[in-house]
Amino acid sequence: MKNCSPEDCPCRATGPLNRSRRALLKLGLLTAISSPCGVFSTAIAASKPEKMRPQPGDKLVFAFGDREGQLIQSEDIKLDAKPVEAYPKFVADNAENSIVRDRSRLNMVLVMRLSTDSLNDAMKQNVSDGLVAYSAVCTHTGCTVEGWDADNKQMICPCHGSLYDATNSANVVKGPAPKPLAMLPLRLEAGHLTVAEKFSRKVGFQQQRY
Ligand code: FES
Repeated sequence: MKNCSPEDCPCRATGPLNRSRRALLKLGLLTAISSPCGVFSTAIAASKPEKMRPQPGDKLVFAFGDREGQLIQSEDIKLDAKPVEAYPKFVADNAENSIVRDRSRLNMVLVMRLSTDSLNDAMKQNVSDGLVAYSAVCTHTGCTVEGWDADNKQMICPCHGSLYDATNSANVVKGPAPKPLAMLPLRLEAGHLTVAEKFSRKVGFQQQRY
């Protein structure tokens, strides 16, 4: 049996059941959920536009909820509030050619607004209007990092309790996560959250050997 690709395995998705179900439906994989994980390894190759990693110029859209698929505007992201889950979208002149890159879970990001004063020096240089985006995929074994400690500005992985410091380049405060989350630099274009550069590092996780 093939193993899952360590980067793209959607088996690692966590969160409310309806959300996971919807994500799997998007991936066209719900009927294969009981199949060996290896099914996914060839199904998820980041070669198609909807699977490609975020590209400069992409806009961010809501990943879930009532506004799923809608462009995120600056005022949608409140200071110190729980991060918003988002996907990048290539916006073409012709709407029919626009593509949400939601066919790889590795493209999901957590978007938040933080006080610029609270950021480390490296981030201050790269952050626009306090808007910060990180990969939502835990670097331990790939769960979705969906918890938020507003007091300490830490992102929490629910699977094994890893903590990432949002104000300090998502460095690991508490493991077992082995490395920081990748950052996705943003800029504002006509009030829309726009990808400024590619991910700062490889996203995803490496399979653990125990
Ligand atoms: S997968 Fe996140 S702490 Fe283990």
